[in-house]
Amino acid sequence: MSYNLLKGKRGIIFGALNDMSIAWKVAERCAEEGASMVLSNTEMALRMGELDGLAKKINAPIIAADATNYDELENVFVKAQELLGGKIDFVLHSIGMSPNVRKRRTYDDLDYNWLNKTLGISAISFHKMLQAAKKVDAIAEYGSVVALTYVASHRTFFGYNDMADAKSLLESIARSFGYIYGREKNVRINTVSQSPTATTAGKGIKDIDNMMDFADKMSPLGNATADDCADYCVTLFSDLTRKVTMQTLFHDGGFSNMGMSLRAMNQYSKDLDAYKDEQGKVIYG
Ligand code: NAI
Repeated sequence: MSYNLLKGKRGIIFGALNDMSIAWKVAERCAEEGASMVLSNTEMALRMGELDGLAKKINAPIIAADATNYDELENVFVKAQELLGGKIDFVLHSIGMSPNVRKRRTYDDLDYNWLNKTLGISAISFHKMLQAAKKVDAIAEYGSVVALTYVASHRTFFGYNDMADAKSLLESIARSFGYIYGREKNVRINTVSQSPTATTAGKGIKDIDNMMDFADKMSPLGNATADDCADYCVTLFSDLTRKVTMQTLFHDGGFSNMGMSLRAMNQYSKDLDAYKDEQGKVIYG
């Protein structure tokens, strides 16, 4: 259902790779709500060819940019204004990658060049994006910028590795830049802390299926899907949230405020059964 919440608004969506991507769903929902958009991703992602389908569907031009390259980001903001015919009302940063995660380097055996890449792609790119946008004055008054994050920035999750550090930095950038951009231009900057989601990036995380199952059992409302996330982003891009800024907004079915749920506890006791002998005595440690 459409509420026309973004009628006449112009946006830039960074990070749609394929139809599983959170950014893909956000772009589709924003189009339903009346927005016009530019899509951006790396040359390599564009060569995979899937983004063309989305571009056609929502009638959005594509501008290539590596989010670690400041000049390419500035170019996106300049060209997007020309193509869309005015200042930008909303921006989605939906970008993340860790070579250490991909190549299965554990957190106590990090490759530091790869750590730099993780931080550069997944966090500092957000600063570059904001700095480039501000220097060319691309974002309209009361514009809204959202980046996607994960609860491992606050609490330790097995296997999330150096992406946890990247997400902490990302959230900090949202606060620090949110102060300046808010004070000077009324631009709001938030991060959305999303449930684990089965996407290309998500599947790179160790044991993502088990993490998703655990999170689902812990969350009173169950895991938030990519489509749910798209709905939430629409509200944050709309005029209904004009005084929300510098926040990490949990969009996770309640997971982040849970300690233990009955459903998770039941699963845990089932697992314990596997370690009991015939008399029901637990046979480990
Ligand atoms: P995805 O794999 O569909 O999207 C990641 C995107 O990052 C891809 O489009 C990729 O091309 C882009 N990217 C990588 N390096 C880049 C670079 N140098 N410059 C520009 N773009 C680059 O996966 P997903 O899950 O949709 O990820 C989007 C965001 O959501 C990421 O920030 C991720 O950490 C975050 N997130 C994902 C969760 C999940 O469980 N999938 C949970 C919470 C947050």
